[in-house]
Amino acid sequence: MSFPVTTIASIGAHEGQTVTLRGWLYNLRESGKLLFPIFRDGTGTIQGIVPKAAVTPETFDTVRNLTQESSVIVTGKVRADKRAPSGYELDVEKVEVIQRVPEEAPFPISLKEHGTDFLMEHRHLWIRTPRQSAILRIRAEIIKAARDFLDDNGFTLTDPPILTPAACEGTSTLFPVDYFGDEAFLTQSGQLYIESTALALGKVYSFGPTFRAEKSKTRRHLTEFWMVEPEMAYAGLDDLMVLAEEFISFIVDRVLTRRAADMKVIGRDITKLETIKAPFPRLRYDDAVAMLNEAHAKGLIEHPFEYGNDFGSPDETYLSSQFDRPVMVHRYPANVKAFYMEPDPVEPKYALCVDVLAPEGYGEIIGGSQRIASYELLKQRIEEHKLPIEAFQWYLDLRRYGSVPHSGFGMGIERAVAWICGLDHVRETIPFARTLNRMYP
Ligand code: 4AD
Ligand code: MG
Repeated sequence: MSFPVTTIASIGAHEGQTVTLRGWLYNLRESGKLLFPIFRDGTGTIQGIVPKAAVTPETFDTVRNLTQESSVIVTGKVRADKRAPSGYELDVEKVEVIQRVPEEAPFPISLKEHGTDFLMEHRHLWIRTPRQSAILRIRAEIIKAARDFLDDNGFTLTDPPILTPAACEGTSTLFPVDYFGDEAFLTQSGQLYIESTALALGKVYSFGPTFRAEKSKTRRHLTEFWMVEPEMAYAGLDDLMVLAEEFISFIVDRVLTRRAADMKVIGRDITKLETIKAPFPRLRYDDAVAMLNEAHAKGLIEHPFEYGNDFGSPDETYLSSQFDRPVMVHRYPANVKAFYMEPDPVEPKYALCVDVLAPEGYGEIIGGSQRIASYELLKQRIEEHKLPIEAFQWYLDLRRYGSVPHSGFGMGIERAVAWICGLDHVRETIPFARTLNRMYP
């Protein structure tokens, strides 16, 4: 006789019924004549109960001999239990073993603590653990929310190339690729290309992998990361800041409503996220610098901040920890920022740009700006930055033919996941992190 096959996440719909689950053994406890196997199936975990008296001796022995991560098809009756984390337990009736992991070569990630290097070396297996699985589901929800928000607000997805002839965010962090004897680079950002699709389609976005040969070994830097980048024609810095705060508020709200169970699994304090509602505070760069100087004078940050620099991680950490929601720092000195940023017409030494710093010390999750609209000025900036002008002729065309004010930003998915999940390091935010020292697995 066969029973309905279901998943642990939707088991509540089958209370009182006998169902079949297809998964793996996560853990097993034994207490006299009772076995308590915990099964996982990719959607969650559930505890099973196997009383010796209630099953055949073969079934009892099969369960008793199960090893961690053995694959099993389990049939049992769903029972509500308030104490269970999922709200349900399974009275196991039958277990079919698909592959039993031999005890001489057990699953490497046991339930005790392991060091980070060991876990990263076994990332392909580490992702099976409940916490890592929950983070990956939250990541997927964040990506879906970002795309839903843009799709439902009139943005058209336009995919930029990954292989590119020139830099977008400065030449120091390019990964070169041999392109049939010519030099090409892995993209740092889709921005330049989606500026062109924005002038074709109005409101657009890109979502895809981006690459930076960053030598920084910090908890925020990956060499390969995923970025979502909206770009709007006929829009200025103020429009961009409104978009950024609505975008982030929407994503956080979505995770809180749809991924509450996973947030519980990872132990995230969600009261810190419930306050994330637009509008967000806006802070001029100069005022942010004043805050840092004051903090340094009080001994709250170690190094004095030198005016005119881009903020370092400790500076961002301090600034962002001062607010209960993301803070939007705008109008940095133009000379510390990228070549394409529009100067402030009121005071051209500032760029019309914004960095959104996440609270709880997470720092920059979004960087964006209004783009230079003038052909002459853009050409001058390309020359000043010693960029290869031939490679930018197409980009200059956007200022030759119907140039308009336009603006956009990029949000790094991993930075957003790290903040929303409250993680110490971006390496846990992506299935297989690429960092300065790691390419395996
Ligand atoms: O501030 P960035 O460099 O801005 C750009 O690339 C613009 N072209 C985007 C645009 O305006 N369309 O990068 C944007 C975001 C950062 O705020 C950060 O979240 C993420 O990308 N990011 C990284 N994430 C992980 N590892 C790295 N090495 C990152 N570098 C940037
Ligand atoms: Mg930036």
